[in-house]
Amino acid sequence: MRNIIIDCDPGHDDAIALLVALANPEKLNVLAVTTIGGNQTIEKVTKNAKNILAYVNANVPLAIGQEGPLVKPLNTAPEAHGDTGMDGPYFKDNNYPIVSDNAVLYMYQTIMAQEGRVTLVGLGPLTNIALLLKTFPEVKSKIEMISIMGGGIRRGNMTATAEFNIYVDPEAAKIVFSSGVQVVMSGLDVTEKAYVTLDEIESLQNRGEVHTLVYELLKFYNESGKQFGFVDSPIHDLCAICYLLDPTMFTGKRYHVDVVTDDCMTRGMTIADRRLKPAQVENVLVLEDIDREAYVHSLFQALARLDNI
Ligand code: RIB
Ligand code: CA
Repeated sequence: MRNIIIDCDPGHDDAIALLVALANPEKLNVLAVTTIGGNQTIEKVTKNAKNILAYVNANVPLAIGQEGPLVKPLNTAPEAHGDTGMDGPYFKDNNYPIVSDNAVLYMYQTIMAQEGRVTLVGLGPLTNIALLLKTFPEVKSKIEMISIMGGGIRRGNMTATAEFNIYVDPEAAKIVFSSGVQVVMSGLDVTEKAYVTLDEIESLQNRGEVHTLVYELLKFYNESGKQFGFVDSPIHDLCAICYLLDPTMFTGKRYHVDVVTDDCMTRGMTIADRRLKPAQVENVLVLEDIDREAYVHSLFQALARLDNI
């Protein structure tokens, strides 16, 4: 069983990743959930995290992270996730507690309090994780790995070359990739293959409350994806969790990966050195393929557990 901290910007796919992690307590012990401004403002993504955790009666500490990137202004994604950041489902008011409004300090204290090492999961811009590594470098020896959804070594989605999470805070990503801590990157190369079809989405109806929640999330997300040319719905962030549940579901390769931070056409591009003899040691395991059937099975199995069916 692995101790993990999930840093996220819910976000439809962040929400599903949280649910699947919580549905596998024998493999993943979620020590904390932390939020980061990204898909929407920090207020909205934190409200969304509260709604998801309350919906499944989770008992996981929730801490509020940075409002925005280290250097650049925050770019949100209402066109993809709606004005709330998680449009679609309706949530009743709840009093899910916030344990800290300083996620970076809370992450540090939580990690250092563990006997063993902790795995970090980054599902949004990497601002909180970068600040943790820079502010408390001694924490690196206590981090097993950092499993992120971000980047792409062939194409972007925010721009032709940059994926959203990295584009929003490229300086943070550069800090994380060059930190010396093992990074597993679920970039668009693999996450765009990690999709659910409309039929699979429709099959979630009338099977329980959590099934219905995910149905409503994915119905909105599928409709929203059409503007970007998608027919099926890639659940990007879930890859970073599924890798921890079953890495055999994926294939990948280690590369040296660096990040473009300049304000130019390639801002946020994650560049993998694919030369026969790269100039620097490989620092990132880049996931490139997935067993989609196994991926979808992980999701459906998690929902069945959460709905006790
Ligand atoms: O590019 C996909 C990523 O951007 C996902 O993490 C999604 O939630 C958005 O944050
Ligand atoms: Ca996200």
